[in-house]
Amino acid sequence: MNRVYIKTYGCQMNERDSEAVAAMLRNRGYTIVDSEHSADIILLNTCSVRDQAEQKAIGKAGYIAARKREKPDLVLGIMGCMAQNRGADLLDRLPDLDLLVGTQKFHQVPDHLDNIIATLQAQGPRPSTVIDLEEEAGSQNTIRDHLPADRRKVSAFVSIMQGCNMACTFCIVPKTRGEERCRPIEDIVAEVEELAAAGTREITLLGQIVTSYGRREIPFKNGKSPFVQLIEAIHEVPGIARIRFTSPHPRGFKQDLVEAFRDLPKLCPYVHLPVQSGSNRILRAMNRPYTREAYLRIVDDLRAAVPDMYFSTDIIVGFPGETEEDFEQTRDLFERVGYDMAFIFKYSIRTGTPAATLPDQLPAEEKERRNQILLDLLHRQSLRRNQSLVGTIQEVLVEGPDKKGLRFTGRTPGNRTVHFEGHERLIGELVNVRIERASASSLVGAVV
Ligand code: 5AD
Repeated sequence: MNRVYIKTYGCQMNERDSEAVAAMLRNRGYTIVDSEHSADIILLNTCSVRDQAEQKAIGKAGYIAARKREKPDLVLGIMGCMAQNRGADLLDRLPDLDLLVGTQKFHQVPDHLDNIIATLQAQGPRPSTVIDLEEEAGSQNTIRDHLPADRRKVSAFVSIMQGCNMACTFCIVPKTRGEERCRPIEDIVAEVEELAAAGTREITLLGQIVTSYGRREIPFKNGKSPFVQLIEAIHEVPGIARIRFTSPHPRGFKQDLVEAFRDLPKLCPYVHLPVQSGSNRILRAMNRPYTREAYLRIVDDLRAAVPDMYFSTDIIVGFPGETEEDFEQTRDLFERVGYDMAFIFKYSIRTGTPAATLPDQLPAEEKERRNQILLDLLHRQSLRRNQSLVGTIQEVLVEGPDKKGLRFTGRTPGNRTVHFEGHERLIGELVNVRIERASASSLVGAVV
């Protein structure tokens, strides 16, 4: 009764939360398995950012609930954002759920499972659903466990904060993740040191709005924001070769952060900078506190600091009232920045957010049309950037065998995936690779 399968939907924060739950469960004597069919306990860690993500998880849960009819002691839990967003109402759709755990209660999962299993083994009536959705002070400090060192990870996520205090009119995250709360710099550095000691070389700092890190708790020092202080502290950790972060807010890109990219060699020349729209009218309706001009200035400043910077973004097409002219502004900005990577979303109504009740919602076909236009642009821009690398030598952090197991894979500082002939002993090493071929999604080369 102790084999657990965890399925994760959504963003990297969700992946990190799932990893931490897996590590806590393993410490408690559970076994983590990678197939739902060999599991006694199935946990879905869910996403609420778009309706589609919620529907997928509900569909999956319904399917598992049906399996419970043949296997009544199969345990089914829903964790994370959808649990927080929909709460006990989910039980109307899924009456067979055993466990419902919110975004501030991941660390309680081992206790809850222990109790559920003890009740099942006592063979009484089916226990009622365990529901744990409260806010909990200090919960941001509980996502810190990693897999044991024998499963070392070349690249690791580290959660530095939780929550978001912005009020973007389209977004459900402030509801699902709550108020901004940060972990102390010393705790984060200690976690990074442990990871480095176990062989991790690349750290990605995670939070819903990392540029707001510590802004109420930690004072500025020598003109540097708490977030830049944190990056500098991690930069000192021996063994760590690369630092990345996601997601920032454009508002957080002041001179100190731009200079960090210029001055800190471990901070990779890759910025994920969510723009959402290129139209000032739509940005205002989204309650995003910047203009397209201010955004483009940040891009220019970063390029001035690091000439071959790579840019990625999040964009929403089909926000209520988005005209052809507004979309044209987005398309134009997309080309001007020349994004190398982008996550393009069709606007999805999120009940309870201000934009949900705006007039002039766009038809699905029009959102799809705009989506395709940007996807085509992205394909071309990404291909062009990759082709420009053919013939160059790139420093690649070797991660391991690729999916087919034929070659090895790693990433460049600009986060481009490279395939090459390699060897186990190169895992975790920085190697120079001469790039020979390029597609929009990856590069092929040879170690020099
Ligand atoms: N519809 C579509 N995309 C959304 N995002 C957030 N809310 C919505 C929504 N209602 C996108 C934003 C955000 C990313 C994580 O998800 O682009 O940056």
